[in-house]
Formats: sequence, structure tokens, C-alpha cells
Amino acid sequence: MVVFRILLCLLALSLEAGEPIVVYLTWIEDPASTMMVQWQASRGEGMPQLTYQLKGETAWNVAKGQSQAVENIDVHRIHLQGLREGSEYVFKIQKSTKQYRFQTMPKKLTRPVKMAIGGDAYYTSATEAFHRMNRMIAHCMPDFVVIGGDLAYTNGTKHWFKNRQWELKRWQEFLRDLQGLGQDGKLIPMLPIVGNHDVSKAKNKLELFYEIFTFPEANKAYRSLDFGDYLSLVMLDTGHTWPIGGDQTAWLEKTLQEKSSAYVFAAYHIAAYPSYYPYMGEEEVKIRKNWVPLFEKYGVPFVFEQHNHAFKRTHPLKEGKVDPSGVTYLGDGSWGVPTRKVKSPEELWYLAKSASINSCYIVTLTEEKCLIEAKNLEGTVIDQVEKTLSLSQ
Ligand SMILES: [Fe+2]
Repeated sequence: MVVFRILLCLLALSLEAGEPIVVYLTWIEDPASTMMVQWQASRGEGMPQLTYQLKGETAWNVAKGQSQAVENIDVHRIHLQGLREGSEYVFKIQKSTKQYRFQTMPKKLTRPVKMAIGGDAYYTSATEAFHRMNRMIAHCMPDFVVIGGDLAYTNGTKHWFKNRQWELKRWQEFLRDLQGLGQDGKLIPMLPIVGNHDVSKAKNKLELFYEIFTFPEANKAYRSLDFGDYLSLVMLDTGHTWPIGGDQTAWLEKTLQEKSSAYVFAAYHIAAYPSYYPYMGEEEVKIRKNWVPLFEKYGVPFVFEQHNHAFKRTHPLKEGKVDPSGVTYLGDGSWGVPTRKVKSPEELWYLAKSASINSCYIVTLTEEKCLIEAKNLEGTVIDQVEKTLSLSQ
């Protein structure tokens, strides 16, 4: 009997051996017609290949991509293009028989589109909140998630024996938990934003963040992504790899000028209007000096900020004052971290609401409006804002 069990275990292990360590999706181009499939696997499994099909079809398509050696594994990437909008696809990796699924986004708001957005996620010493928040988000069934920096706390934390292998293991744990956001093999695409704990400031260091995630340009996490005619996400780098001012600010102005989506949201890590950190902090001041005037000039309604480990919503702000036609800043980075003692609206003129609580935003876009709900670990709505959507604008 014991021998039989050992044989069964060995069989299970050999079957597992060909399976990827983790599979994760993102977009670097049009979410209606492309998908970037990424997975990590043991070294030496050859060039990446997957088979995929539109759900319900019988023929399988074959797609090939690139591999990159990272420590003791390979990171594989295959960019699927020419997909049908608003459709479900099934895919299988290499020789594995396991089926994964994903959905392309619609070009028009023919159905509600839902995104989950938060930041400061897989904290090193307290991980229960991260797992609970992921389960809460999974229950909301978002189309995609945006993580606004400090994803897995791989940098700037004190740990014995910390090295790239340790960092890689943390990234894998983080990604494996996110693989559970969908059900029955469905994977939910993730858009990562860079934070201070995602990269080191060391010069010429290979950053795992840029080796395991994929961006339109190598080593550059600031970019924008357009979802049909209804949503543009402008994701920024608050000085972790690229300076706030200079090229990035020039790019931001050009990008906001060009956007014609019904909604344009900005998202980044350090907050221009912090609920915990000092208002006069170096980066905070730089963001207010360089980016805030552009958000105001181009009428960005909502900006998502993180880093403070709390919940906050500001009043609509313009030219340093509360103004109903201004920009509302939502945050404040408490996906899965221990929360901090926030300042109250009585202490800070720009705050409309704040709380020392774990929270994430669930944003639902319909033809009528954009509804933004802040939810706690139990899925209870603790705050909400909305704005009428006008696709004809
Ligand atoms: Fe941070």
C-alpha cells in the first residue's frame, strides 16, 4: 500500500513537472484584439508555444513567442494578436493538457466593464489581508485588475538571505494568488504599476519587476492603454525608475492632449494628496507641480493614488482649492498591507473622507455612468462616487 502511494505521488509529481509555475496575463496593446500571455517554467523547455481557440470552435491556432532566462527559470511571453473583441478564448501551454481561458474586452460599452484597482498588496509580514482582498475582488468578477505599485514588497525590506532567488519566489507566490481571481482556469489580466518596493534604486541592477512583467517599452512602466472609445488608463511612475518631471511629464501632456475616450483615469503609486505621508514630501510636491496642473487642464475626473496604506477620497480639487469642477483623488493603497493611522478631513483641507482600513476600488463603466465603489475586506461598500458617462463628448 505504501509503495502504491509513493508511486502515485511520483506520478503526480511527474505530471506537475511539465506544468508552468505560474501563468499571468497583461495587455501592452489594444485589450479588444490582443492578449499578452506570460508564464514561468523550469529551464530548458524550449521556445514557448501555445495553442488557442475561440471558445466553441474546433480548430486550434498555434502561437509562438520569446523566452528570457531569469535565475533558475524561463519567463515565456506570447503576444496574441488579431483576436475577436468581447470574446472568450481557451488556450493550452506547451504540451500541457490543462486549459486556461481569457476574455477580450469589448470595443464599445455594450455591457458593463468592471475593473478592480488598488495598491500596496502582498506585504511581507502580514499576508492574510492580501489573500482576503483577492477573494473579495474575485467575488466582484472584474474584467481586469490594476495594481498601483508595491505589489509584492520585493525591495526595500529587511530580510535575512534576501537575494534575487528570494525575490523571484515572492513574485511567484504573488502571481499564483492572483491566478485565483478567475474561476475554472479563467485568468484575469493584470496591469502592474511600479512602486518604491518593486524596484531598487541601484544603478545597472537587473530588476525582476521588468523581467517578469511586460510593458510596451522595456524598463518603462509608464504608459497608457485605451479600451475602445470608453476608457483610457494613464499609468505613471512616481520616480522609481523614471523621474516625475522632464520626459515623463512631457509624455503625460502629449498623451492627455491626444486622448478622446469618454473617461480618462490616471493611476500611480505615491500620492499627490496623501492621507498619511507629509503633504510637503519631495515626490508629493513634484507630482503636484508637474502632473496635477495637467490633470486639471485636460479634465481628468479621477486619479488613483496609493502608498499611504489607508483609504481616502479627496474633494474635487483645482488650483489648490476645493472646486466642484476639479479632480478627485482616490486611494490610498491598502490592498493587503497593515493599515496606518490616517489624518482626518478636519486635519487636511483636501480630504473628503479617510479611514485606516483595507480597501480596493471596483470601477463599473456602463453606457450611463461610471460607478466607483470602495470596498473593504468583507466586500462592503465603504464609499462611492459616480459620474455620468457621455460617449458623445
Ligand atoms: Fe509605497
